[in-house]
Formats: sequence, structure tokens, C-alpha cells
Amino acid sequence: MNYSICVSPARRIQNLALIGFMGTGKSSVGRLVADTLHFTFLDTDDVIEARAGKPITEIFAQEGEPAFRERECRLVEELARRDKTVISTGGGLPINPANLASLKSHALVVCLWTSPEQIFERVRHQTHRPLLNDPDPLGKIRSLLAAREPFYRQADVLVNTELRSVKEVEQQVIDQFRLAQSTHR
Ligand code: S3P
Repeated sequence: MNYSICVSPARRIQNLALIGFMGTGKSSVGRLVADTLHFTFLDTDDVIEARAGKPITEIFAQEGEPAFRERECRLVEELARRDKTVISTGGGLPINPANLASLKSHALVVCLWTSPEQIFERVRHQTHRPLLNDPDPLGKIRSLLAAREPFYRQADVLVNTELRSVKEVEQQVIDQFRLAQSTHR
């Protein structure tokens, strides 16, 4: 999968939203992009954890996944009021079409993409993602990624992060954002 851009001329592009599967580098890339653009960086998982006063693993365990998705939805609605913000989203957030539509109403939506094997390598020693707490994490990554691919493909831009450094990915994201902004002023 390569990157490409396709944004209708009537779009308002004042923010940048990064979507994609867990472990594709949304937060690391997002922080770098925000620094370079002099934008504020916002991570939806961090905001949800701060508001709930507990980590995502506990939200899932105590309240269940639907309650977590509800929290995501409410936060996405608020994001439409932001300006000059790089938004790094939780991996499951764009699976709700209303969330994706809302992001597209004010942000360029960029999806970071990589293979299941690479994702597995990146997340195998981490414990903070309840959906990957599975006896067969690679199998779970493969099936979840396959189910989510049609949603991720609805991003304005797809950036393949495989074999690219974080710095290279950052540069591609910035190039695409500047291009989109220059045609939507
Ligand atoms: C999730 C991804 C996580 C977090 C939660 C659910 C998902 O975010 O929102 O564990 O459904 O893919 P990251 O993509 O930042 O790991």
C-alpha cells in the first residue's frame, strides 16, 4: 500500500488526524509532526485515561469495551472545535463511521499502515492494549486488521510505515498535510 491524496475541495483542513492499527507509530509520528508544524499534540487514549482517572486496561475491565467506545465518541465530537492540532487516535476509533466523518469535517485524515508481523514485533512486549491480551496475539492482530482494513482505507492518505524510519514517515505526513492545506485555503 502506498500513499496518495484525494480530498474534495470543499473540505476544512485545520487539524491533522492520524488513524491506524495499534503499533503503527501514530503517537511517535504525531508528536514529531506537531513539533514541526507548531501544532498542539493530542492523543485520544491519553485524554480518555486522564478523564477516567484510570488506564485503558481498567476501563475495558471495569466498564467494558462499549463504554470505552462511548468515551471515544464523545471526545471525537469535541475535537471538531479544535484548531492547529495533531490528533493521534486509538486504533479502533475510526471503525465507527460517525467518528471518521466527524474527523474529516475539520482534519486531514492520514492512516499509518504496516503489516501484522511488524505490528506484532512492535507490541509483543507491551501489556497496555486489552484487545491484544490474547493467547494468539499475532492471529488476533491479523484478524482485527483484516476486519478493519476497509475502514482504514477511507483515510484521505495512506502511509506505509514498513521499512521507513519515524523521521521519514513524519516527512511524508507533513508533505501531504501541506499539500492538502495549500489546496483548501
Ligand atoms: C484499541 C487501540 C488502542 C486503545 C485501545 C483499543 C483498538 O490505541 O484505544 O486499547 O481498538 O485498536 P492504540 O492504537 O493507540 O494502541
